[in-house]
Amino acid sequence: MDRYDLVVRNATVIDGTRAPRYQADIAVSGGKIAAIGRLDQVQADLDIDAGGKVAAPGFIDSHTHDDRLMLSSPDMAAKVSQGVTTVIAGNCGCSLAPAPNGMPSPVTPPLDLLDESGRWFRFKTFSDYVAQLAATPAATNCALLVGHTMLRLQTMDNLERPASKTEIGRMRELADEALAAGAAGVSTGLYYEPAVAAPTEEVIDVCKPLAKHHGLYVTHMRDEGANILSSLEETFRIGREVGVPVVVSHHKLAGKPNHGRSAETLQLIEARMKSQPISLDCYPYCASSTILSASRVTVASKTLVTWSKPHPEVAGMDLAEIKIPLEQLLPAGAIYFSMDEADVQRILSFEHTMIGSDGLPHDAAPHPRLWGTFPRVLGHYARGLGLFPLETAVHKMTGLTARTFGLKDRGILKSGMAADITIFDAGQIEEAATFAKPIQPAKGIDTVIVNGAVIWRDGKPTGARPGQVLRRAA
Ligand code: ZN
Ligand code: CU
Repeated sequence: MDRYDLVVRNATVIDGTRAPRYQADIAVSGGKIAAIGRLDQVQADLDIDAGGKVAAPGFIDSHTHDDRLMLSSPDMAAKVSQGVTTVIAGNCGCSLAPAPNGMPSPVTPPLDLLDESGRWFRFKTFSDYVAQLAATPAATNCALLVGHTMLRLQTMDNLERPASKTEIGRMRELADEALAAGAAGVSTGLYYEPAVAAPTEEVIDVCKPLAKHHGLYVTHMRDEGANILSSLEETFRIGREVGVPVVVSHHKLAGKPNHGRSAETLQLIEARMKSQPISLDCYPYCASSTILSASRVTVASKTLVTWSKPHPEVAGMDLAEIKIPLEQLLPAGAIYFSMDEADVQRILSFEHTMIGSDGLPHDAAPHPRLWGTFPRVLGHYARGLGLFPLETAVHKMTGLTARTFGLKDRGILKSGMAADITIFDAGQIEEAATFAKPIQPAKGIDTVIVNGAVIWRDGKPTGARPGQVLRRAA
């Protein structure tokens, strides 16, 4: 008789493809799913009873800033407690590597979102970073992007102008090295100061190596407000001219005059999807979070400070109640209430939208999306509001994301796939993190398994760190 490493028994399987749920046992052996079906007769070293609960593919967080968290807090509790088993890091133009020229002090925003101290920008090459993640693995798997903003910082003496031919050549070499070392794509943060001066042509030139590596172009667009349509067009053009798929990060409409315009943006995206590969992700909240800046404060109805280097005591406070002038709080981070709930729901329920947290793991008083995104989609939006069936919700955080990022053996529960499994109670699951108390593990997550190893059980991390650096398969 077969004996397996682990069997999940009596589960309601939601397999990540959007197929209807069914009852089955799941056998795991050597880090892979060995069998799914009625397995009452088989023996295992570890039995997990999932009676009355859902077993789904481990969730893939399509948009994270966990580049450094994986090394400094490898238990990854903020993510694992939500059922996340793979994170996509290096978003919004910000990656921890490569840093052949180190990092200035103070760290140039928004790269300070990754590490405000600057000490972790220590990897001269992208492959040094990948080697470190392999040598000291985290609990979760990851796929990595290399950030254009980081490349600019490493190659240019002045960021307030377009890059020269020579600088572009150097950035392209660094991007090529990162992609050869296993990066799945290049990200940009064209909204942010260190990249604002980069014309579209610069981005296209820097991204050229993506084509031969079958990488992705992933972008925090130049404008998520009044000029969002031209930003979408810019994104599509970059994808076409480089010849690669694009991912629109954290799609949103910021600022009251733009509320309701997701009807236009989604229509444009859907039309263009017929002629080129386009993906998008979204987090389930109508407040955004990034560094503190006066321009963002003016479009928000309310601003909460998430951290401040000179004034750590104001973290968590409403900016309106802080007597200190904004300039004196910098560098700092904030949460901005600037979106419309109807847009958030329309974008979330769009067929092609993936779920990504955009959580900021090092903020003193972080946006609750860091600990709450996935349970909120499953609990509040799927079960509570009935925005989509649970099978669709799971697909948006598993199968769809794995397909987009080329994570071939992830995102679907079937025999032969890697054993990344999240077991949760569909009736109980919900986020516990709130804007007032943002650091709280979600309710309803039972067990989380990565590469066949249990990483979360009984409401806490087990200490296992089976995470792998995943590569994109074209
Ligand atoms: Zn972003
Ligand atoms: Cu981001």
